[in-house]
Amino acid sequence: MTLTPVLSANWGDETPWKLDSYGDYSAARKALAMDPDSVIQLVKDSGLRGRGGAGFPTGNKWGFIPQGDGKPHYLVVNADESEPGTCKDIPLLLANPHVLIEGIVIASYAIRANHAFIYVRGEVLHVVRRLQAAVKEAYAAGILGKRVLGTGYNLDVVVHAGAGAYICGEETALLDSLEGYRGQPRLRPPFPAVAGLYASPTVINNVESIASVPSIVDKGVDWFRGFGSEKSPGFTLYSLSGHVTRPGQYEGPLGLTLRQLLDLAGGVREGHELKFWTPGGSSTPILTAEHLDVPLDYESVGAAGSMLGTKALQIFDETTCVVRAVLRWTEFYAHESCGKCTPCREGTYWMVQILRRLEVGEGDATDIDTLLDACDNILGRAFCALGDGATSPVTSSVQYFKDEYIAHWEKGGCPFDPEAATLWAES
Ligand SMILES: Cc1cc2nc3c(=O)[nH]c(=O)nc-3n(C[C@H](O)[C@H](O)[C@H](O)COP(=O)(O)O)c2cc1C
Ligand code: SF4
Repeated sequence: MTLTPVLSANWGDETPWKLDSYGDYSAARKALAMDPDSVIQLVKDSGLRGRGGAGFPTGNKWGFIPQGDGKPHYLVVNADESEPGTCKDIPLLLANPHVLIEGIVIASYAIRANHAFIYVRGEVLHVVRRLQAAVKEAYAAGILGKRVLGTGYNLDVVVHAGAGAYICGEETALLDSLEGYRGQPRLRPPFPAVAGLYASPTVINNVESIASVPSIVDKGVDWFRGFGSEKSPGFTLYSLSGHVTRPGQYEGPLGLTLRQLLDLAGGVREGHELKFWTPGGSSTPILTAEHLDVPLDYESVGAAGSMLGTKALQIFDETTCVVRAVLRWTEFYAHESCGKCTPCREGTYWMVQILRRLEVGEGDATDIDTLLDACDNILGRAFCALGDGATSPVTSSVQYFKDEYIAHWEKGGCPFDPEAATLWAES
């Protein structure tokens, strides 16, 4: 099993973010010589699925944009990356911003948009600056602006820095934020493909989705489908973090297993063993060592009871208290809940109260049921997927580690505290 660097192929170069090092935008030139609908068809045929979490087919999304409607069309790139554990778009943008800009040229042309926006997480100022510099280079080289690459097509790209709210990664909250309003999810329908930014047809795609397009245009559908599986074709960035010997980005075909990735990453840190992990960030239900051989593609991870999400593989070894980890994640969701709907606003608040009590050993036998009941009242009843995601760590941790929750109130404290751990081991 080998890695297949495509997006990350030039990351080791001296200045991969410079236009001179990047190349001549040959994929964009090729696409601009095609009919826009043929570009959409090519991306549909490739089977590329959105890398922002849900795995929606990218070509189909582009195909939803009504044509000949007389309205402006927009492409919005979601570079808000704020999910705990997710850390692929930021390194990609730092190392290789031009692959995103080339993807933007192709995608915008395909959907007949003359304006594209990159909504980037504002706290990562170095990334904002790198993107701005790359966009400036592209304008100076005639890649953006009037008569893109010498053709009759015009495209303007705006880099917009968000103010650091997780909810602004949710695509409709992002649109509100981009329009200058407080970032809160919109009611759907209408979907963004019909009424998105400024009530006009809009495609919103993740950074990695758009950055994957130039190589597909360049090398073709068969080449792309040569990676991964029938339903989950292609390559992707797997982000390994936590208790792993060599954390970082590992680019390979979809369908690798955590066992294979851990082999590449030097394994769980020395002297320790895997306890639990997330396949795609904190919103995806945790898995355990029994899932080491699950292929990391959309179908297989789904069948194992979780979701591939953003392929953010957070590794936790046996020294981690699962109740504490879940508490920290739930505190994040409660803090980031936008407050628009009651199940999420109230539910995440109350889950934090219960988990805090449990973690210090002050809970009791009814608490787990109350927690699960709160999850039941959020999942499928919240206005957006933030609420659903907040329930994942809670329900999955109770599924696999109920004994550890019980141990907290039985021991009157966290069994992972040095003193209490002795008690826990002796029992
Ligand atoms: C709370 C929340 C946060 C999200 N954050 C991001 C994000 O930072 N980046 C991203 O690409 N998608 C994020 N998404 C998913 C987007 O709503 C959307 O599905 C995605 O940008 C679509 O791109 P794709 O089709 O290329 O995957 C988030 C969703 C939710 C509910
Ligand atoms: S689920 Fe949470 S984040 Fe989403 S709209 Fe409701 S309160 Fe806001």
